Amino acid sequence: AAEKVALKERIKRLLKEREAVLVAHYYVDGDLQDLAEETGGCVSDSLEMARFGRDHPAKTLVVAGVRFMGETAKILSPEKRILMPDLDATCSLDLGCPADEFSAFCDAHPDRTVVVYANTSAAVKARADWMVTSSIGLDIVAHLHAQGKKILWAPDKHLGSYIQKQTGADMLLWQGSCLVHDEFKGIELDLLKAEHPEARVLVHPESPANVVALADVVGSTTQLINAAQTMDATTFIVATDNGILHKMRAAAPGKHFIEAPTAGNSATCKSCAHCPWMAMNGLQNLADVLENFSNEIHVDPQVGKEAVRAIDRMLDFAA
Ligand code: 13P
Ligand code: SF4
Repeated sequence: AAEKVALKERIKRLLKEREAVLVAHYYVDGDLQDLAEETGGCVSDSLEMARFGRDHPAKTLVVAGVRFMGETAKILSPEKRILMPDLDATCSLDLGCPADEFSAFCDAHPDRTVVVYANTSAAVKARADWMVTSSIGLDIVAHLHAQGKKILWAPDKHLGSYIQKQTGADMLLWQGSCLVHDEFKGIELDLLKAEHPEARVLVHPESPANVVALADVVGSTTQLINAAQTMDATTFIVATDNGILHKMRAAAPGKHFIEAPTAGNSATCKSCAHCPWMAMNGLQNLADVLENFSNEIHVDPQVGKEAVRAIDRMLDFAA
């Protein structure tokens, strides 16, 4: 414990010395989330991470999250130095949508507006008309649908089909999924709900349709935390990465949170719903990158120039 306190103090000192700011996602270790908040950085969902990084005057951003978040920060601010605790922290959605195959898919459907989820590589974003995050994807597709546009959506099939059902848009879906959210189980969730009839169910839309169907609220990480805070209920079942519980408990003290069932968490695995790549962010590697200015994110400038249009469209729409 003393070691941890010393490491945190060292990180605070280094952030000052390096004139750097820490931007963290809700799924990373709670200590990193707290540090981001305490030092004037931010802890949030992917949309707010992007906006905060773009607008903050610091020349160095440390992004505690996964690779696409660091790349998005770099694309939005090519002049800034973007560091990440571990450059191998990726995402199954990003891995499941290689740029060359995606490009061929787009070529085969030139009549469609290409909308990609933030959880993709810079090269995939460069091929897109729009980038969206889970907090705003539904509104943007509804807007495009109202203009009569047909959509090509990638990569998350669950988020895509949820948006498709909600908006009625014509959407052709890439078949990717998040390895964390794909594990939530509808039948088991239904049984858990029966045990806790007073509980409200909060679900991230990367979850399978039969899990989303049982939700009281479907939304991004920030939207789910807000719901926990403001809804008139004291017990919540939460179907998203359990890293979110750190902030939920702090934001809604006295309320009770139960993790939604996954294939394994009933008997064998107490924390199945935790992203292995988000878990690669720790105090030690955060301190190291600040000390050495190592693990810098680079995006090919030409790719960045093409990708920024899709991201800017979303940020302008959200403004
Ligand atoms: P949010 O944008 O909702 O924070 O989601 C990011 C993510 O990777 C969810 O798995
Ligand atoms: Fe990707 Fe899923 Fe991890 Fe989010 S939780 S970063 S979608 S693998």
